[in-house]
Amino acid sequence: MPKLYRNIENLLTLEGVDRYVDSSDSDVKNLSIVRQAALLECNGKISWQGSESRLDMSAIQKLCEGQELEEVDLGGRDVLPAFVECHTHLVFAGDRSEEFELRNQGVSYQEIAANGGGILSTVKATRKASEEQLRYLAQKRVDKFLRQGVTVCEVKSGYGLSHEQEMKILRVASQLVGVDIVPTFLGPHAKSPDMEMDQWFQQIIDKTLPEVMEKKLAQRADIFIEDGFFSYEQGKRYYERAQQLGFQLTGHVEQMSRQGGAALAESFSASSVDHVIEISDDDIARLSKSGTVSVLLPGADFYLRMKYPPARKLLDAGARVALATDFNPGSCPTQDLSMIGVLARLEMKMSLSEVIAAYTINAARALNCQDTHGSLEVGKQCDFVVLDDSYRTLFYQVGYHPVYDVYRGGKKSPLVYIDPV
Ligand code: NIG
Ligand code: FE
Repeated sequence: MPKLYRNIENLLTLEGVDRYVDSSDSDVKNLSIVRQAALLECNGKISWQGSESRLDMSAIQKLCEGQELEEVDLGGRDVLPAFVECHTHLVFAGDRSEEFELRNQGVSYQEIAANGGGILSTVKATRKASEEQLRYLAQKRVDKFLRQGVTVCEVKSGYGLSHEQEMKILRVASQLVGVDIVPTFLGPHAKSPDMEMDQWFQQIIDKTLPEVMEKKLAQRADIFIEDGFFSYEQGKRYYERAQQLGFQLTGHVEQMSRQGGAALAESFSASSVDHVIEISDDDIARLSKSGTVSVLLPGADFYLRMKYPPARKLLDAGARVALATDFNPGSCPTQDLSMIGVLARLEMKMSLSEVIAAYTINAARALNCQDTHGSLEVGKQCDFVVLDDSYRTLFYQVGYHPVYDVYRGGKKSPLVYIDPV
């Protein structure tokens, strides 16, 4: 049954929001806000949105094509597009709390990795876990994102590091429910414990990448281009092969050192370049004219006590900027969107409207789902968040997101999908 949502105080549509969001300008313009608004949903999609004063009931009836219409009063609350979480590593077992303690005593992330800890310790725990156990752990995490208003969530593999184990993780990702999952293959995340780096890389190119595509387990391919992990040359070979197979591309680039990965990924028209802390001014100029989205992950910078990416420079140059948690057990063990937004505001001087755009429309662009998600425009999936406080209180209080209800495809979400194994 079509639904007409009425009595919305501020409807943040994000319609037409792109590139430079001027922090000194008004939210109304930067977020395309409609005051005292209504929103019509038909068959899970948005059929109309606008001011109550322009509401023409006979036109609305026509849009419903003869179906009975239900009206829902949203009580003068604010509404915005559901959030898009565009970078997570949420399928894993175990934790890295001991490593957190070590890092706090001064041992570096790279030193820990070189001594068999870090990513490899999560690989050991993840390999041991059954598919059912992993699905349970991952679904709990998906539910946690959903309760914060996320309805699209990217999920990377990368803690298997063998052909079979990477496939296992992607199969688990395909079983997650409650949000739209965007799976990403990240076989080249680290050296496999089973073989030499070159051999692992070659196996990915020859066997795993083609099979992932053939089995439709992921349509995005990611690689960690970093000193001690994968080189610029390997990045190039990987992108060539993945593109040839029909993957969309993304990369963990310029996180700890400058390797040229951002320019490389952009030259392959990657949908996003993620981390981008050590990027150059040339990279910024390049990204400002590109469709490639810069995904900033300040939670990882916070936990690793590293510097933050040059968000202001990117935004002022006109680059598309998205934000995500990078949720994983090592470099960012938090799923808290409010904390990411607060870090973006305090440490990277992003304005509230830039943060909101970064967590909705630009995150959708990073995942190539901007035609269906990320803004409340006619024809898009009707995914929205009803707030229980003003939208001005978003990304302000760490640990709290003023979420009242979450709607996905026009239906109120139950918020919990986990069922115990
Ligand atoms: O995005 N940079 C590489 N990968 C993850 C960290 C994974 C881990 O430490 O387990 C990241 O920060
Ligand atoms: Fe990551």
